[in-house]
Amino acid sequence: MAKRAVTMEKLVALCKNRGIVFPGSEIYGGMGNTWDYGPVGVEIKNNIKRAWWKRFVQESENSFGVDAAILMNSRVWEASGHTTSFSDPKMDCKECKSRHRADNLIEAHSKGKVNPDLMSNEEMETYIREHRICCPICGKFNWTGIRTFNLMFETSRGVTDENQNKIYLRPETAQGEFVNFLNVQRAARAKVPFGIAQIGKAFRNEITPGNFIFRTIEFEQMEHQWFCKEGTDGEYYEQFKTRAMQFLLDLGFAPEHLRFKDHDKLAHYAKAACDIQYEYPMGWSELNGIHNRTDYDLSRHQEFSGKSLTYVDPVSGERYIPYVIEYSIGADRLMLAVLAEAYDEETLEDGDVRNVMHFHPAIAAYQAAVLPLQKNLAPQAKELLGRLKKQFSVSYDEAGSIGKRYRRQDEIGTPYCITVDFDTLQDGTVTVRDRDSMQQIRLPAEKISAFLFEKTAF
Ligand code: GAP
Repeated sequence: MAKRAVTMEKLVALCKNRGIVFPGSEIYGGMGNTWDYGPVGVEIKNNIKRAWWKRFVQESENSFGVDAAILMNSRVWEASGHTTSFSDPKMDCKECKSRHRADNLIEAHSKGKVNPDLMSNEEMETYIREHRICCPICGKFNWTGIRTFNLMFETSRGVTDENQNKIYLRPETAQGEFVNFLNVQRAARAKVPFGIAQIGKAFRNEITPGNFIFRTIEFEQMEHQWFCKEGTDGEYYEQFKTRAMQFLLDLGFAPEHLRFKDHDKLAHYAKAACDIQYEYPMGWSELNGIHNRTDYDLSRHQEFSGKSLTYVDPVSGERYIPYVIEYSIGADRLMLAVLAEAYDEETLEDGDVRNVMHFHPAIAAYQAAVLPLQKNLAPQAKELLGRLKKQFSVSYDEAGSIGKRYRRQDEIGTPYCITVDFDTLQDGTVTVRDRDSMQQIRLPAEKISAFLFEKTAF
């Protein structure tokens, strides 16, 4: 198999130079592991979210969207278990004061051969001691014991100190879907099985964020909860595995860069759980999760809220608390995978190397770029641009040679360049250049819209 040209360093540099992703708060020296999406990046990320929403809400039978508040009643997090058990095992190096996750230290030391998910904190401490795993920063062996560290960001509400109430920035969007189970069921007249989905920000005070936008403290999740009857849950779990994988394949991922990975250790309430892993530049890592969460979530919210979340089957009259199949994927983590998958360096016949991003045309920041061959053709080019912009995201560039302009569009992955030249003035045709094949065809300008509709559909 051909070696992939992509590395994390190249991606980070390209993202910064081409307006895809910038370091957060950069003019103040940055703020560790925060990232800002630039003009090109925000278009790509929005397109990713749109494609997901189209597939899992709009085109899905019986799935409905919500956009719930980030700040939720604190009892939600007691019910979900986050206040007590949403934590990572952290250890501090007493020499250099750096903080690490014990499970990550073991995984890195054993090169993935030992699975720390199966160990208790005591077992992890023993393993680290017996294998003399040193601090990866200073190389010394002088650890504190393992302490658990809750990953939720706390804040408070209320204008006076007396009035202050501890609240949390949500660490996942899922709870906004669970607490709206009754509302959606009633408003959409939904019958089990049905789904609730949302896309939104989540926050986690991660001990070891890193790998660019892979693990950050603020990120976006795209989550879908499928409410179904016990006994049908196994079949829907398999269905969501297939649908989640198909979504990635349809975005253009090579099958050999994706794989399923069953969880070795299940949460006490879960019946089954797996990830889809992607082969990122830093290695195979989780891209998304599919979980059979049984009736845990709705049972807990019923208990803590005092509201009945029991479903009554309108035909049989049967009463039960639905099971949940959860499909959860990070928009930023998918963005990183999309960037890594698209990245290519092609050696051309003349020996020149072309940097090109082979995005699916629906995901690219711009579906097309309009380029006047010379500046004096700008009025005609801008007239076409104005028409296309009503339907597509279209870029415009009149600076530099046409070859340089093609390369700039290749680097940000624009699938089609439309050149207005002197023949356009004569016969109304334009040149359409394909990003991947670099082939050019001529088409009447009035047919470009239909051409782009066909080529950029998802
Ligand atoms: N509701 C279930 C849930 O939140 P998770 O496995 O913790 O499950 C789901 O997270 C997905 O969210 C992950 O597969 C990943 O794509 C994304 N994700 C989780 N933590 C993240 C972080 N710190 N930075 C970026 N993405 C993250």
